Amino acid sequence: MSLHTLAAIPPYVFYELDARRVRHRAAGKSLIDVGIGSPDGPIPDVVIEAMQRTAGDRALSGYPAFRAHPAFAAAVVAYLGSRFGVTVDPVAELLALAGSKEGIAELILSHTNPGDVVLVPEVYYPVYARATQLAGAIPVFVPMLPDGRLDVEAVAPADVARARVLLVNYPCNPTTASITLDDYATLVAFAERHQLLLISDLAYSELSFDGYRVPSVLQVPGALRVAVELHTCSKSFNMAGVRIAFVCGKREAIAQLDGYRSNIGYGVTTLAQMAGTAAFTHHATIIPPIVAEYRLRRDAVVQALRAGGWPVEAPRATMYLWLPVPAGYDDWGWVDALMDGPGVVVTPGIAFGEAGRGRFRLSLVQPADLLTRAAAAMTSIAPVMGSALHP
Ligand SMILES: Cc1ncc(COP(=O)(O)O)c(C=O)c1O
Repeated sequence: MSLHTLAAIPPYVFYELDARRVRHRAAGKSLIDVGIGSPDGPIPDVVIEAMQRTAGDRALSGYPAFRAHPAFAAAVVAYLGSRFGVTVDPVAELLALAGSKEGIAELILSHTNPGDVVLVPEVYYPVYARATQLAGAIPVFVPMLPDGRLDVEAVAPADVARARVLLVNYPCNPTTASITLDDYATLVAFAERHQLLLISDLAYSELSFDGYRVPSVLQVPGALRVAVELHTCSKSFNMAGVRIAFVCGKREAIAQLDGYRSNIGYGVTTLAQMAGTAAFTHHATIIPPIVAEYRLRRDAVVQALRAGGWPVEAPRATMYLWLPVPAGYDDWGWVDALMDGPGVVVTPGIAFGEAGRGRFRLSLVQPADLLTRAAAAMTSIAPVMGSALHP
């Protein structure tokens, strides 16, 4: 990557949002921040205890293992088995990461040459396109069907021929769309046919409601031949600040990533891996109350929006609502109207690419009463909800 490459990447929209937030706070305004997707809940007690024990353990003070601490690997393998019925080799098919965001970037950087194509959903978590640009590769955006599924067959054959990687994210941030195992099977077959590495970003694997259980792409028979999947403790366990995640799947891809990472750093800090070990070991007891709280918040905000005349649908997964910008506003105009008026911070849809224009994202990262207030403020400024074509 050259300095020129870095300079050519447009500013991160979240930076701009942050600057506005700081300006308002400096002026003494109190804000209801539902912009960023950073969980407000506490780190689970059992995780804190594990970190405290680790901090005092002399045996763990050296450099961590390059791929994964055996205890972390064992906890992850058990979790994948009990939760998804998926079996991975703890040594060859698994690697601990300091968060899935940098893991995704490193996967892209270690699997592309300048000029290669990376297939990115048209509404996307920003690192997918930005890491592609940092690699000197070219993001080609895959159209989304109205239900949020990727229309991979609509990508130009010349682009598919140059593609090395296909990224998918279900349940999706920000659209909240999810897909079935059959849909995954179609994507696996597409990746296999075109010799692509399929990267599944499963950041919201556990945040689902109303009996819906999120599937893993690795449940598709043969997926280990083409796919890797990223899981993170950030959302499901309220551990975004701990920075612990993992990638599992196709062993050649894991080896390639390991080769890249071992040249620029060591493994993930042992403290974070022990925190992750405790989280995955106790997932069955930690996650239900966290999900119950998000469901309560989702229902409160949906009810408040509906009461104000916005006929929104309740998402069945993630911690977001993905809503059309009301008529008469553009993306930043709506963000500013909410921040300057009632002091509500939301994320403009263009943070997730051009195809996100005309939408905004609300995160369920405030208690239900504040979310209700934020929703009421929105509908009182704009009594008629917008309508957008994109999912
Ligand atoms: C879709 C998606 N992937 C990855 C991440 C990053 O997660 P982590 O904290 O593991 O880096 C996020 C965070 O918002 C996300 O929404």
